[in-house]
Amino acid sequence: MKHVTLIGVIIMAMSVLGSCEYNYEEETLEMGNTECELAVSYASTIRPLIDNNCMPCHNGDGKEPFAPDLRTYNSVMGIAGLIKEVTQSRRMPKEGSLSNEEINAIKCWVDQGALNN
Ligand code: HEC
Repeated sequence: MKHVTLIGVIIMAMSVLGSCEYNYEEETLEMGNTECELAVSYASTIRPLIDNNCMPCHNGDGKEPFAPDLRTYNSVMGIAGLIKEVTQSRRMPKEGSLSNEEINAIKCWVDQGALNN
């Protein structure tokens, strides 16, 4: 009986800790969400970010047939909303990660109209 209780306490503690961590992350992103006053540049911020984090898979070479080609501005702009969504949810980059600042830069760039700026 004692063992069962102890395990129960550990599981509870783990889920509480886990949810705190999750909330913290969401809050950080939310705080960042208000900071879109500065224009985010495609050429100097978004393009290098994609080149560094997405190109191994999104380079249109056919090895990842379901990974949309992200080599050109037009291809990125065409699915800008989806790119925002998968980076906000941290589904992408697969096998990697972006900083909160980078995720926020993408969000702001998309919200500002996904300009070729
Ligand atoms: C290690 C390989 C890899 C990396 C790195 C990667 N992706 Fe992907 N991505 C994929 C694959 C494979 C798919 C298609 C299957 C899927 O949706 O999981 C995909 C799908 C997508 C989709 C389409 C999702 C949908 O619902 O149709 C978007 C948008 C995307 N990736 C954006 C990005 C961005 C932006 C980056 C960089 C920040 C990135 N990915 C980095 C492999 C990768």
